[in-house]
Amino acid sequence: MKQRLAFLFCLLVSGVMAQTTKPASTAKVATKTPGQLLYEQHCLTCHQANGSGVPNLNPPLRNTDWVTGDKTRLINVLLNGLQGQEIEGEVYDNAMPAHDFLNDQQIADVLTYIRSSFGNKAEAVTADQVKTVRVKK
Ligand code: HEC
Repeated sequence: MKQRLAFLFCLLVSGVMAQTTKPASTAKVATKTPGQLLYEQHCLTCHQANGSGVPNLNPPLRNTDWVTGDKTRLINVLLNGLQGQEIEGEVYDNAMPAHDFLNDQQIADVLTYIRSSFGNKAEAVTADQVKTVRVKK
């Protein structure tokens, strides 16, 4: 009888444990891509979470050929920075710092992210493409 009780007790405990180790919520957790994480770390303060930029200071990253157009020019903006450039008819007081400390894969990831976010729909940038532009620098 004692053994039987102990057995039942074990069953009960393991049942409770199984219950509590279940995920608290089955809601889908949105996982961020490496590109989005890099964007949040290196670009968001200036270009904002939704790519809107800040009037007169930092240009938007949406509705612009700078982001969705020629990849070589875009990669060069990241590698060299940019300053005093007229963008879609506007000028901006801030300077875009060079991000050549990011490796080829990181630049490819963050550029792929901005080219497919904020309503942009342009093809991905690969690490090989970044490498090709970097060696010509
Ligand atoms: C310190 C603020 C700052 C940071 C940080 C920054 N930018 Fe910029 N960015 C600018 C400014 C200012 C310009 C416009 C420069 C000019 O006027 O010539 C610019 C221009 C650009 C352009 C070309 C113009 C356009 O509107 O598309 C792209 C693309 C861009 N940035 C992407 C990025 C990405 C990607 C990152 C993160 C890896 C980043 N920037 C980080 C301030 C910043």
